[in-house]
Amino acid sequence: MYSGNQLRDMFLKYFEAKGHKILPSASLIPKDDPTLLLTVAGMVPFKPYFQRRVEPPFPRATTAQKCVRTPDLEEVGKTARHHTYFEMLGNFSFGDYFKNEAIPWAWEYITEVLKIPVEKLWVTIYPEDDDAKKIWEKAGVKSERIIGDPENFWAAGPTGPCGPCSEIYVDLGEARGCNKPGCAMGCDCDRFLEIWNLVFMQYNRDEAGVLTPLPKQNIDTGMGLERIASVMQGVETNFDTDLFRPIIDHVANLAGVKYKNNPKNDLALKVVSDHVRAVSFMLADGIRPNNEGRGYVLRRILRRAVRYAKLLGIDKPFLESAFQVIQKDYSHAYPELKENENFILNHLNLEEKNFQATLEQGTQLLQDKVKELLKQGETVLAGPDAFYLYETYGFPVELTEEMLEEQGLTVDMVSFQTAAEEHRLRAKEQSQQMRAVVESPELMEKAKLLGRTPFVGYERLSATTRIEGLFVGGEEKQDVGEGEEVMVFLTETPFYAESGGQVSDRGVMRTSRAEARVLEVKKGVTGTLYHRAQVTTGVLHVGETVEAEIDLVERQATTRHHSATHLLQVALRSVLGEHVQQAGSLVSPERLRFDFTHFSALSTEGLRAVEGIINEAVLKNMPVAATEMPLKEAKLSGATALFGEKYGETVRVVNMGLFSKELCGGTHVKNTGEIGLVKILSEGGIGAGLRRIEAIAGIEALTYFRALDDQVMEVAQNLKAQPLEVGKRVHGLMTQVKDLEREISQLQAKLAKNEVEGLLKRVAEIDGIQVIAAAVHVSDMEGLRQMADLLRAKLKAGVIVLGATSEGKVNFVTVVSPTGLSGLHAGQIIKEVAKITGGSGGGRPDMAQAGGKDPSKLGEAIDRVPTIVRGFLKK
Ligand code: SER
Repeated sequence: MYSGNQLRDMFLKYFEAKGHKILPSASLIPKDDPTLLLTVAGMVPFKPYFQRRVEPPFPRATTAQKCVRTPDLEEVGKTARHHTYFEMLGNFSFGDYFKNEAIPWAWEYITEVLKIPVEKLWVTIYPEDDDAKKIWEKAGVKSERIIGDPENFWAAGPTGPCGPCSEIYVDLGEARGCNKPGCAMGCDCDRFLEIWNLVFMQYNRDEAGVLTPLPKQNIDTGMGLERIASVMQGVETNFDTDLFRPIIDHVANLAGVKYKNNPKNDLALKVVSDHVRAVSFMLADGIRPNNEGRGYVLRRILRRAVRYAKLLGIDKPFLESAFQVIQKDYSHAYPELKENENFILNHLNLEEKNFQATLEQGTQLLQDKVKELLKQGETVLAGPDAFYLYETYGFPVELTEEMLEEQGLTVDMVSFQTAAEEHRLRAKEQSQQMRAVVESPELMEKAKLLGRTPFVGYERLSATTRIEGLFVGGEEKQDVGEGEEVMVFLTETPFYAESGGQVSDRGVMRTSRAEARVLEVKKGVTGTLYHRAQVTTGVLHVGETVEAEIDLVERQATTRHHSATHLLQVALRSVLGEHVQQAGSLVSPERLRFDFTHFSALSTEGLRAVEGIINEAVLKNMPVAATEMPLKEAKLSGATALFGEKYGETVRVVNMGLFSKELCGGTHVKNTGEIGLVKILSEGGIGAGLRRIEAIAGIEALTYFRALDDQVMEVAQNLKAQPLEVGKRVHGLMTQVKDLEREISQLQAKLAKNEVEGLLKRVAEIDGIQVIAAAVHVSDMEGLRQMADLLRAKLKAGVIVLGATSEGKVNFVTVVSPTGLSGLHAGQIIKEVAKITGGSGGGRPDMAQAGGKDPSKLGEAIDRVPTIVRGFLKK
């Protein structure tokens, strides 16, 4: 019997013998592909080859590709064959062979290598694809076993390469079927299992849904490893293969249940085992759980796993031990499970812990809500409530739906979507604006034609080059005049395009008759550099020679910050530990920002130590050198790499003496001494397990210290103290200020008491009601209220109106005591009073406050109080 590992190897070897290059699986994060969130099929990494956006470096390839698909999330565990994460075996032709080879090879592999009996096999084709039919027949498939199916057309997403396809099915026998009359090939049940899909990639679909023939005909095939393993191992479901059993057994063990003993437990075991595989591989590729895009997919799957484990009775954290089982079984084929172990475990544990806590809180909240709904005879939870659970407690809406389902309730998905959409739109607005510019079809076409723009800016600060293209608002132009903003393509460029966290260069372009300011440079998917520029004088023409020159001062400042970032990374690792991973960075002329994984705040001493190590490395004036080499070699040499670098790629390794070795395409100093002084400005948390450091280097550090120095000198002068003594002196002053404040408030209280006593002597009476109206000396509303309270305690039945000026405005407080006295209302009275000083206000019947604008009218307002009170008494 073949193991899953053997089946993977056999497939690759078979196609290697047919001239295919075996490539390792690409990352689950599709590279440079805004149309896809995750790698959903073996062909995803090859899209640029099919579309000929990039010239394929080899004509044939074969892979076992890690894939994640989530549209069928709910199906996982319920059927024999649905998964979130799975491996897809495939052979690919980039404009090389087509159906004539792909079909007989697939047939040969299935019937002669795997030796699946022909009587068990069926084939489907796209109904109009007579070619395919003939080729299958020629390969040995009986005509009655070839079925036309209009659904046999495959595409990776709404847009992109696609084509008619042909599938191979295995009949697993009647016993595995639904036993319904008419159960035959094409039935949805578990009897007929699709094992291999051969796509004849020959079209590209655009946003309007229009198909255009691709430049060449291609082949993309996909065979699910888990499925073929279930067939070859003769087991009932994919979950019973050796690809799943160890993890299922492990989880069953933890839960103290037996697999295949109780259908409800089995479902949970299958869900948990599937999901744990998915989250392990997603984390291994550097996806971080969060609330957007693929991070949200990961979080959702992880949380679902935790919840199903809970259903099994597992209440303790279990993801780490489950991951270890997966690591043991898979790290031979997928070394990233070992390489990124720290990252994976940190996130698994943190997410699990956080979710356990929110799960408890959120569940309680949901149960209360359910009770309320049931009491009112309702069955639908409002969308905004579900969104609240999502936003505040991190409940994926699907989880809420499932929990409600258990009690016969549903979520109003329409209003949920509206709430979610509003939230998302706000966040997305900005990034979309940029995309609109870069993705004009005309511009893309030109970029494809031009390909990679050679970058000469590592060594040179200016270059004599040529204008290859000019675009205004996405439209191609021959010339562009003064004042216009234009996208410029150059033959080669000294301008660094924004990447790897380093901001783009700015500078100027000069032709013999014109000049333009380069504002920003970006890199497109084809490697073409887009120079966004503004013409300042004259007219730019396509084809002209141009002198391109970067802003040297800015570039040097950026470069210093970039080199400092490398030193920072090493310093952090040596102080905090090897688990520190870069999680993003921004390097600009003004400063550097470095995000990294770590689980607690750095102490002041820790930060000092980091800063010390960096500055020592600067002072050692180590030489900095960049070398290009294949990724594999770079990794072997121990260079620090980020996630997502692609196989086969040549990478640039930047060494700083023996101190640091990092994969990096950015610009760097020649010797560390050029970086100058490095100063950390701040350190703080930016998310679960993520920290951020901001720092400055070189001139920026000098500027910072000068500003600091100026401040200290000024303070010292004012205090008539030595600069290094200001700390002590300020501390002394602060103690003094506190003492004075205490004294003042005691005096104020005394004053208020005196004032109250004075006021009580001036009580007026209107129709038997005591009225106190006065302008007093109290600096804020709080003091005014306190005074009114003191007066209230002394009055039997009456109205108090106090006013005071404070910071150029007027404050009023009114009290009517006891409440409802003669129908008087404090809010109404104060409204009339405040109006006189140009203000407004209101409040409760017994107590109200208000503000006014004109302090000169305060006296008048207070004088009018008796009349106003009288007015209300008459009503
Ligand atoms: N892209 C096709 C699929 O995923 C064949 O690889 O089914």
